[in-house]
Amino acid sequence: MTGPTPKPGVLDAPLYVPGEHKLDGITEPAILSANENPLGPSDKAIAAYREGAEHLHRYPDGGSNALRRAIADAEGLDPERLICGAGSDELITFLIRAYAGVGDEVLYSKHGFAMYRISAIGAGATPVAVPESSLRTDVDAFLETASPQTKLAFIANPNNPTGSYISEAEVTRLIEGLPPHVVIVLDSAYAEYVSRNDYTDGAALVDAHPNVVMLRTFSKIYGLAAVRLGWAYAQKDIIDTLNRLRGPFNVTAAAQAAGVAAMQDRDHVVRSRDHNEKWLTWFTEALKELGLTVEPSVGNFVIAKFADSETAKRANAFLEQNGVIARDVSGYHLPEHLRFTIGLESECRMAVDALRRFLQSDER
Ligand SMILES: Cc1ncc(COP(=O)(O)O)c(C=O)c1O
Repeated sequence: MTGPTPKPGVLDAPLYVPGEHKLDGITEPAILSANENPLGPSDKAIAAYREGAEHLHRYPDGGSNALRRAIADAEGLDPERLICGAGSDELITFLIRAYAGVGDEVLYSKHGFAMYRISAIGAGATPVAVPESSLRTDVDAFLETASPQTKLAFIANPNNPTGSYISEAEVTRLIEGLPPHVVIVLDSAYAEYVSRNDYTDGAALVDAHPNVVMLRTFSKIYGLAAVRLGWAYAQKDIIDTLNRLRGPFNVTAAAQAAGVAAMQDRDHVVRSRDHNEKWLTWFTEALKELGLTVEPSVGNFVIAKFADSETAKRANAFLEQNGVIARDVSGYHLPEHLRFTIGLESECRMAVDALRRFLQSDER
């Protein structure tokens, strides 16, 4: 018996492969696979989430009003130009559904975040991978690849999984070089971790251009990946458009409550950033000392290159046997690399110790 056939193209969408969180037989693995905050969320966010349990029979506030106000206060933005989503993943989907369809192209960089391609295919649009240079977003390549069919361009800045970023000047050159009908999405999921003078999260560029959108998430530095919460900042027209595609109650009440508390707890953000800065530097240097090639990263993760793809696979298996879950990034055209999230001190040390033993062993 044959079942219904999906629309043409839908089955071409690759399944998103999330980072593993469990290892058979190991009770407390070092989970360095999903770029989560190893310190967890703010205690105040946990308390707010728990408090939400008292009101589970009530629908959430569909407009996420308190949350938009909390974000606006913390970031100095206009709440009327914000939209919240069930993770920034959901907002990526809204953007593509709103601005691209069959015959339209969605640009993203070759080693860019997987959901741009998956969501483009889901909307019937054509995803176009733009070449990178030295594992960095290449603005010239974007400008050369853009065609009259291009409707959106996604730039993860910093990019996942490479950890590289492009400067405000480069982002501006991209915006000025693309036609104004192209929606340029600056996905700043890791912005809070970046401490470079020439970096911008994109908010000021949104203010200056009608076709620029900034995406942010609560899944990374805010440590709230489980509740699924993200937000977008754009000019009013774009926000109005996205609101039309939004389910009436797309963000749960518990997520909104946790998000408000997390936004207001700036100390937790600073603690998380400081932890990352210290251990990202330590981890990067430690891997280099082991002889691995490590890409400079400004995020909360780093990729390391092994001799070849087989060695990377064996290293990953060895790490798992030793209780460390790294991320296989072969799906990002990086089969010789593994990605490591910066974990707790003990987890970083565990990963380095295991890699040292691997590199000294015959299994290498
Ligand atoms: C660049 C980038 N954008 C967006 C996301 C998705 O975040 P969220 O959990 O808010 O859907 C991720 C998650 O890994 C990411 O790396």
